[in-house]
Amino acid sequence: MLQKQLVQNDKEPCSCESNNEMKKDLLTLRDLTADDFEAFFARSFELKERHKIGIHDRTLQGKTLGLIFDKPSTRTRVSFEAAMIQLGGDSLFLNARDSQLIRNEPIEDTARVLSRYMDGLVVRTYSQDLLRELAAAASVAVINGLTDLYHPCQVLSDLMTMLEEKGRLDDLKIAWVGDGNNVAHSWLNASAILGLHLVLACPEGYKPKDDILEQAVNDTAGRIVVLSDPEQAVRDADVIYTDVWASMGQESESEHRKEIFKPYQVNEALVALAKEDVIVMHCLPAHRGEEISADALEGMHSVVWDQAENKLHMHKAILEKFIGQEAVSVNRD
Ligand code: CP
Ligand code: NVA
Repeated sequence: MLQKQLVQNDKEPCSCESNNEMKKDLLTLRDLTADDFEAFFARSFELKERHKIGIHDRTLQGKTLGLIFDKPSTRTRVSFEAAMIQLGGDSLFLNARDSQLIRNEPIEDTARVLSRYMDGLVVRTYSQDLLRELAAAASVAVINGLTDLYHPCQVLSDLMTMLEEKGRLDDLKIAWVGDGNNVAHSWLNASAILGLHLVLACPEGYKPKDDILEQAVNDTAGRIVVLSDPEQAVRDADVIYTDVWASMGQESESEHRKEIFKPYQVNEALVALAKEDVIVMHCLPAHRGEEISADALEGMHSVVWDQAENKLHMHKAILEKFIGQEAVSVNRD
């Protein structure tokens, strides 16, 4: 597995998320500025509108995207692939376990070779350090399609959905209920950059990682709060967001987590404590009866299907920026 490959690599991970001066990577939302977020929102709404009225943009004509995945995916994989096709480009999917990585080919060599074939790479794997290693060696843009630590593209498209539903971000109370996981970490990053009001309710022992939380809290002067009580978190909330209790790679903890997280289920009783026009979000896949009840997932407050759709439009905007005509790649050999 890709993770094992990293263990054998004794190089120091790079100190920054994206260390190449010329080409740009999207490894965490900390790689973006508030202006970048604004540009992504504007372009993703424009692309959505153009798609709905049948305009076929060709902004990625002649470009090829590689998707290297070491974990399962439905939405991220298919929306990136569809985004490439709809913008006139091509994509190629590689299950990491079918590659020579499984036979210990160094990640640096893999990155250098794939950079000769592709204009950009979307990578889903376990280790954020491994992703950094890959990006440091690649001469084309590397986009994080989920690691154990972050899921930046998910949160970018979720912010688009929030804007679409609410028309604004700045005076919303966003309640995260459940595990302090990779998606929660990207919410912390986004909240720090945009100054969002984010309240997380997580069981003891399952709060976000200290360093990611502290950095976000320090950057936002009281706008980010972590609690243990889900009812307190959702009171007067404009948005309730949840995610699975056991993320990919944590399957062996699944039964234990079901016990710990039981009081954190998003159900109609919890939703009733929020504002009347609260929206309920979930990045999917959902486990009905665990982190979210079937009635909350299918109820009038749920926006999860629009949320899933918006991954397509936001991924188009991301690809245009990172591998489109204006993006830069470097020849380092
Ligand atoms: N939300 C999300 O990333 O879904 P997939 O795991 O299906 O890509
Ligand atoms: N936290 C989840 C997100 C899935 C899209 C996981 O990592 O499995």
